[in-house]
Amino acid sequence: MEIRKVGIVGAGTMGCGIAESVAEKGYDVILVDRTEELIGEARSRIEMSLNKKLEKWAITEAEKKVTLSRIRPASQLVNITPADLVIEAVVEDPDVKKEIFRTLDNLCADDVVFATNTSTLSITELAAATGRPDRVIGLHFLNPVTRIKLVEIVRGLKTSDETFATASKFVASLDKTGVEVYESPGFVTTRVIVPLLNEAMYALMEGVASAKGIDAAMKLGFDLGKGPLELADRMGLDTVLAFMERLFRDLGDLKFRPCPLLRKLVRAGHLGVKSGQGFFKYDDEGNLIE
Ligand code: NAI
Repeated sequence: MEIRKVGIVGAGTMGCGIAESVAEKGYDVILVDRTEELIGEARSRIEMSLNKKLEKWAITEAEKKVTLSRIRPASQLVNITPADLVIEAVVEDPDVKKEIFRTLDNLCADDVVFATNTSTLSITELAAATGRPDRVIGLHFLNPVTRIKLVEIVRGLKTSDETFATASKFVASLDKTGVEVYESPGFVTTRVIVPLLNEAMYALMEGVASAKGIDAAMKLGFDLGKGPLELADRMGLDTVLAFMERLFRDLGDLKFRPCPLLRKLVRAGHLGVKSGQGFFKYDDEGNLIE
């Protein structure tokens, strides 16, 4: 199937990044969130990200305008019907996601492929909410989407080879590398990174070192791009907590038990970059405040 228009449901951290990456490659994008206000914020966020690229001379003013013009924001799911592929990127809550897939199934033509950006939920379970489980697949983009070259392409139990081929071709067209993954909680990336983030939080809670010290040790000691606490802040602490709770429940392994300090920060509304404060403080553009 030829993909020209891509619908994205959920214009948060991931939805915005996916919309920008997809529009930059020439696709028309319909970006949906719940309210006009949220959609307005999403547009500003994408524009800010493009402005940063402009400042670095990575794109021209004309390219910025063209990319923005390809993204059509909408606050009603019904606007998504012209899409050939729909990528769902709403909160990590199975009931919310299933309800969206049920509605999409009624709205979209039978040959439209549905992808979910879930990090921990079962593709098979989400697919069962639709009448087209063979056309449902996981496209697990990572944060920040515009920079990270990887997408895990996750097969549910009933995902067809044709759907997998369509998804793989689409991922390659974004200049990203797709890795084929079979359904399992957290796939490869979330399952492997979460215990590292959690252990860094326990180290902080136990007073082993300061937040800055822990991140410096891990970053310099293992040649990582970012320390684990900053990485968690950038992923969103509420999102990280949801990942851990899900993995703990599904795999029953204590290594996924969320650190109490993480719960405390989330309860306080310190969600990381998106709220301006997590383990560290950030300015409006997401830069770390020293
Ligand atoms: P987020 O909280 O930043 O954004 C979620 C968005 O979904 C919000 O804008 C919210 O208004 C919207 N939403 C909620 N219910 C909706 C509905 N019924 N209709 C339309 N929009 C709705 O969350 P984030 O971090 O972008 O995560 C989204 C998905 O991506 C989750 O499934 C998460 O597991 C996955 N993911 C997150 C990563 C991360 O590092 N944050 C990395 C990879 C995947």
